[in-house]
Amino acid sequence: MRVIAVINQKGGCGKTTVAVNLSACLAVQGRRTLLVDMDPQSHCAVGLAVPEDQIEASIYDVMISWDGESRTELKHVVWQIAQNFDLAPSSIELAALEQQLAGKDRREDYLRNVLHEYAGGYNYVVVDCSPSVGLLTFNALRAADDVLIPVETGYFSLHGLQRQLETLDVLKEQCRQDVAIHILASMYDVRTKLAREILTELRKQYNGRLLQTIVNFNTKLKEAASFGQPITEYDSSSKGMGDFQALAKEMMAFEEAHAGRSRLHQLESNLETISQSAEKLIAHSKEAIGAKPAIVQKTEKTVAEKIDNFYGVRQKHDRVEFATLCPGAKEVCVAGDFNGWDPHTARLSLNGRPGRWMVDMPLQQGRYRYRYVVDGQWQQDPYNEKIELNEFGEYNSVLEVV
Ligand SMILES: Nc1ncnc2c1ncn2[C@@H]1O[C@H](COP(=O)(O)OP(=O)(O)OP(=O)(O)O)[C@@H](O)[C@H]1O
Ligand SMILES: [Mg+2]
Repeated sequence: MRVIAVINQKGGCGKTTVAVNLSACLAVQGRRTLLVDMDPQSHCAVGLAVPEDQIEASIYDVMISWDGESRTELKHVVWQIAQNFDLAPSSIELAALEQQLAGKDRREDYLRNVLHEYAGGYNYVVVDCSPSVGLLTFNALRAADDVLIPVETGYFSLHGLQRQLETLDVLKEQCRQDVAIHILASMYDVRTKLAREILTELRKQYNGRLLQTIVNFNTKLKEAASFGQPITEYDSSSKGMGDFQALAKEMMAFEEAHAGRSRLHQLESNLETISQSAEKLIAHSKEAIGAKPAIVQKTEKTVAEKIDNFYGVRQKHDRVEFATLCPGAKEVCVAGDFNGWDPHTARLSLNGRPGRWMVDMPLQQGRYRYRYVVDGQWQQDPYNEKIELNEFGEYNSVLEVV
């Protein structure tokens, strides 16, 4: 069994599209494949026409009952999608897993344990992650042999990629975990100059990690998802199908190259180190997205550096500062409960480092939900780990003013 986690903190960069269609193509190649949806948004079920109201149990139930007396086994939650292709769907309860596992030992290992116990019959397990960094993504990382980072070929993605790679490097170095990290250029539109330049830059900076396969922008992939089908069923002669077949073959070639290595043995012998490092990594990830774990206070940055580096939301007496990175944006606003979700009134202005946008506003005590509006596009705050699903199936960021 080889576990491939599809991860990127950036929302909408194509993770689910990659996870679904890579799984489908591995299955077509005769590999028994399980797709695990670790995103509470449940987009895999939607993209594969699994009726959400009929999902009685999900990967959440398997994980939460893992160390209990009455366990839910993986086979009880799995849906067969096609020959060789099964889905372990997600559910909204997954969003609460982090709190529910608080205080448990090795809580970052639940998915890994579950897969080792129940998923031995699969050749591949592909894990689709949510765009936020937290315990769910960390569980996927800890279970993974391969990490696949789809990078939409645009400037914002490059910034997110750098942070993602730093996080993964910490994992690799500190945990001594044998994870292979692959970057996948996705949604590539050869007709645009920016996309071509980004690809050249990716090749320059990440040579060795960048996969040869490129997933092109292909409307058939979008249509397939809206019809609830993988590309293998929706249009097997499309360019999208060709790209994902190539990706499946490239990933299979890595497996052959790794054959013979006993990763499990290595992990078992290093469990203690890994567990300690896991906490450090969570702290590192939180630092990257603007939270303040204890480890941040121990770093030796100057106060000026800290201020300049700050992204996220923070309270200063009766005011709250919102800071985010949007290089190249023309207008960045914040809309939320505090301003009637008006996408135009609360404007951020350029402040500090290039591309850093900031506003501070007076806010009374309370709990607020908000999103940024960047050149008219709504998006969650990528530096705030506190999120909740909204009625559109997207994430609102959450802020508590005390
Ligand atoms: N190669 C592609 N060609 C065309 N459209 C694509 C491609 N990849 C993804 N899309 C479309 O882009 C949108 C976002 O893709 P997707 O849902 O896979 O991203 P995601 O990273 O999983 O998002 P989230 O972070 O919310 O989980 C979807 O509408 C999807 O159909
Ligand atoms: Mg997704």
